[in-house]
Amino acid sequence: MRRAAAALAIGASVLLLAACGYQGTVAPTAAGVSGKPVKQATTPALPKGDPASGKKLFASNGCTGCHTYAPAGSTAKIGPDLDKLPQYAKQANAGPLAQFVQTSITSPSSYVQPNYPNVMPTTYNKLPQKQIADLVAFLTQK
Ligand code: HEC
Repeated sequence: MRRAAAALAIGASVLLLAACGYQGTVAPTAAGVSGKPVKQATTPALPKGDPASGKKLFASNGCTGCHTYAPAGSTAKIGPDLDKLPQYAKQANAGPLAQFVQTSITSPSSYVQPNYPNVMPTTYNKLPQKQIADLVAFLTQK
C-alpha cells in the first residue's frame, strides 16, 4: 500500500514593509557653499620689501651660516637649500610663497622641513617688520 504523501502547500507570504513616508532627499542649501577660503592668513601684512637690503640682512643675521642660497653666495647645509623654496612651499601647502617664507622666518617651528632638525632660531620674529619684509623680498625674488 502506498502511503500518500501529503503535500503541504506553504503559502509564502511576503511581508512588504510599507514605506514610512520619509523622503530621503535633502534640499540643497546655500550653507557651506560660501566662496570664502577656509584658510585665513595668520601672517601679518608686511610693508614692501627691498631685496637688496634683504641680501645684507640675510648675511648679518647669520642666515648664511645655515642655509645654501645662490643669490647670497652661501653654501651651508644645516638648513634647507633656499634655492628650492618654491618647491618646498608647494610641498608644505602653506599658501603663497611669500607667506610661507614669512612664516618660516617668524615661526620656524610651525612647519619643519622634512629631514631637517627643528633648530632654526625663533628670535627672528623680533626683527622689525620692514627687515622681515626685506628678507622675504630677497628670498622670493627669483
Ligand atoms: C642655526 C641654523 C639656522 C639659521 C641661523 C637660520 N636658519 Fe632657516 N632653517 C634652519 C633649519 C634647520 C630649517 C629647517 C627646519 C624648519 O623648517 O624650521 C630652516 C628653515 C628655514 C626656512 C623654511 C624652509 C622650509 O622648507 O621649511 C626658511 C625660509 C629659512 N629657514 C630662512 C632663514 C632666514 C631668512 C634666516 C636668517 C634670518 C635663517 N633661516 C636662519 C636653520 C637655520
